[in-house]
Amino acid sequence: MKAIIDVELKTRKVDFSRCEADLLAIGQFSDVKGLDALCKKLDGEIERVIKLGDFKGKEGSSAVIYGNERIGAKRILLVGLGERKKATPDTVRKAAANAANKSVLIKAKTLSLALHRAFAGRFDLSIMGKALAEGTYLGSYRYDEFVTESENGRLNSLSVEVIDSDAAKAKKLNIGVTSGVVIGRAHSYARTLANRPANVINPPALADEANKLAKDTAGLSCTVFDEKQMAAKGMGGVLAVGSGSKSPPRFIVLKYKPTGKGAPAASFLRSKTAGARPTIALVGKAITFDSGGLSIKPANNMDEMKLDKTGGITVLATMKAVAELKLALNVFGIIPSAENLPSGTSYRPGDIITTFSGKTVEVLNTDAEGRMLLCDALAYAVKQNCDIIIDIATLTGACKVALGKYMAGLMGNDEKLMKQLQTASQKSGENIWPMPSGDEYAQEMKSKIADLKNIGSKWGGACTAAAFLRQFVGNAKWAHLDIAGVEMFEKATEYTTQGSSGFGVRLLTTYLMNLVAK
Ligand code: BES
Ligand code: ZN
Ligand code: MN
Repeated sequence: MKAIIDVELKTRKVDFSRCEADLLAIGQFSDVKGLDALCKKLDGEIERVIKLGDFKGKEGSSAVIYGNERIGAKRILLVGLGERKKATPDTVRKAAANAANKSVLIKAKTLSLALHRAFAGRFDLSIMGKALAEGTYLGSYRYDEFVTESENGRLNSLSVEVIDSDAAKAKKLNIGVTSGVVIGRAHSYARTLANRPANVINPPALADEANKLAKDTAGLSCTVFDEKQMAAKGMGGVLAVGSGSKSPPRFIVLKYKPTGKGAPAASFLRSKTAGARPTIALVGKAITFDSGGLSIKPANNMDEMKLDKTGGITVLATMKAVAELKLALNVFGIIPSAENLPSGTSYRPGDIITTFSGKTVEVLNTDAEGRMLLCDALAYAVKQNCDIIIDIATLTGACKVALGKYMAGLMGNDEKLMKQLQTASQKSGENIWPMPSGDEYAQEMKSKIADLKNIGSKWGGACTAAAFLRQFVGNAKWAHLDIAGVEMFEKATEYTTQGSSGFGVRLLTTYLMNLVAK
């Protein structure tokens, strides 16, 4: 099996007309006249391209210009940044993604990024550095480990540098590049795991992967409960969902504890320690394949349900990033994993399940399985005394209907937590939108013969699903991200390849970084 493309990224102080690279990327706004100083050394090449109308600086567009003996780079990539006033740090992230994507396409070995220059100091340079690094990984990522034909294939590695001629600026950029590289690598790791099909990744295989990650990562530990241990604990929700498959379910608990200076106080000391940090649980749905179970799904696009493990994998990758960034926080990563299949041993519509919390649930549709296993994981997080719980799940087709493929749904019981996630969303370029999950919706989830049922009425399915989850979080501050719709890029774009989007790694890591920064 081929490894994913190895991307190295550094910051370098160098005069950009002298940097030798296969490709040098510079940015151009559509409404800013006047070109970068470099362009003078190109004997009017860029002006000609612009005059011909081949490049207008539109967002998402780009043009290649070939270098001459007066500049170091073999090729210049002009990257469109759109209208100047609309630009955000996500503009430079996407521009870097575009340039990195092109580099892989044309098999460039080295790429230099000078995209931040066009912004002329409008955003903090460490923010720009982080966005440039994240964009580089987003754009250069490929998933081809099972493609055996190597003709016209890609190179195995790409060497990238963010360049600036000013040493102080390069230093500031590098602060962001350093964390952006950690996040970008975690993001690619998530995409590869999520892209792997269900015959390759089943719940035990995912648990093995989590154990391996913990072994290789300082500060991270991992405990896995198998089906017998789950039965002993009374995790009826996870067990019910996993009962139809030959691959047994797993309950994966990762724990990150910072070591050395800056380590937060243990939770029993916390109330007495001013400024101590909260314990956070990230909970991710990891259904390695969702056929719907006995309430089976239609055949069309059922293959996409291999991506139903995305939330859990996002949590796994975020734990990797948090540990590598050595954040001064206690973080749990809780990943309940099962395969939802129909068989003679499956759970059935009509079954009443006693969940880990003690609450009973009447199953009316085995395809509403995400909430059945998340409710056990949320109750487990409450039992671990977590102050803040954030779950992430490809939970409802209804969320995809409501928000389309551009934004994830955000629900929760705490305004401040939801605001903080929205701030992290703006900074990370992973978009979320608030939706309700209050009492009206919870009312629909009441059963006549058990405490709850697992589906509501025909309408507002994303909200009723969240209202179901809400009942398992006790007094914790809780937020829920429904990522059905954003877990996948349907088609390749100028920014990235098709398949898993790895949604949430940038968002959650940025949220946690912001908590520490305060
Ligand atoms: N994994 C699906 C939700 C989903 C749908 C994710 C489309 C990504 C794209 C989830 O388990 C599911 O099947 N939900 C049902 C719930 C219903 C039975 C109440 C749905 O949305 O149809
Ligand atoms: Zn599902
Ligand atoms: Mn389902």
